[in-house]
Amino acid sequence: VSAPANVCVVIPAAGLGERLGLDQPKAFVAINNWSLLSLTIRRVLDIARVGHLIVAVPADFKTEALEHIDRAMRDANKKIPFDVVVGGETRTQSVKNSLLALDQLDSFVLVHDAARPFVPQSVFESVIGKLDNGAKVVIPVIPVSDTIKTVNEKSEVINTLDRTQLRAVQTPQGFAREVLSEIYATTDLKPTTDDAGLAEIAGINVSTVAGSVESFKVTTPFDLEMATNFMNRK
Ligand code: C5P
Repeated sequence: VSAPANVCVVIPAAGLGERLGLDQPKAFVAINNWSLLSLTIRRVLDIARVGHLIVAVPADFKTEALEHIDRAMRDANKKIPFDVVVGGETRTQSVKNSLLALDQLDSFVLVHDAARPFVPQSVFESVIGKLDNGAKVVIPVIPVSDTIKTVNEKSEVINTLDRTQLRAVQTPQGFAREVLSEIYATTDLKPTTDDAGLAEIAGINVSTVAGSVESFKVTTPFDLEMATNFMNRK
């Protein structure tokens, strides 16, 4: 029996979070004195298989990022090797920059948004489990509860999509390392809103596992309020 594959988690945290309307990058916004970044790293540290962490942050935030990583590691009482890299203008570029810090030993790479601090451990485990079983790309998804329609540039309805076929896509998105490196190595890299989008463009099969409503992404001021309530629950 061979040893389980090493897992590296990449955390894109270089977004400016303009939709949040605050004066600092989203990942550095705090709830109860904990930044979204430190909360997210704290969750990641609970996953025993994760042996390497790469965090992409805005250019001026490298030093500050070290404090947030250190805080999460002290709270978890666990230290793992990590790298802090400078992100890019798009999420896609931030992930691409992160991949330069990959180690030869990182067999699986999970890309997880800093803006999803409450992702349950079970979602990480499902993604890793599917990679263990040979899947090359795995994403967590949830059914959509709203009806979704497409509109034209005048916001008039074009049509209604079949909800039974729709899924909302979350992170962590898991990859066999060589597959992720390959899809990000293309010269005409198109910015996509998630990493698996690049795999689809490359014609690679993408598997799904059950995501979680707890893994919601903090995007708007209302999300931040929800996140605060969620953290203070019980
Ligand atoms: O903006 P959005 O919520 O889709 O961003 C998702 C994640 O990607 C966030 O954690 C954000 O910090 C990160 N991101 C990044 N670099 C960018 C844009 C977004 O690392 N240029």
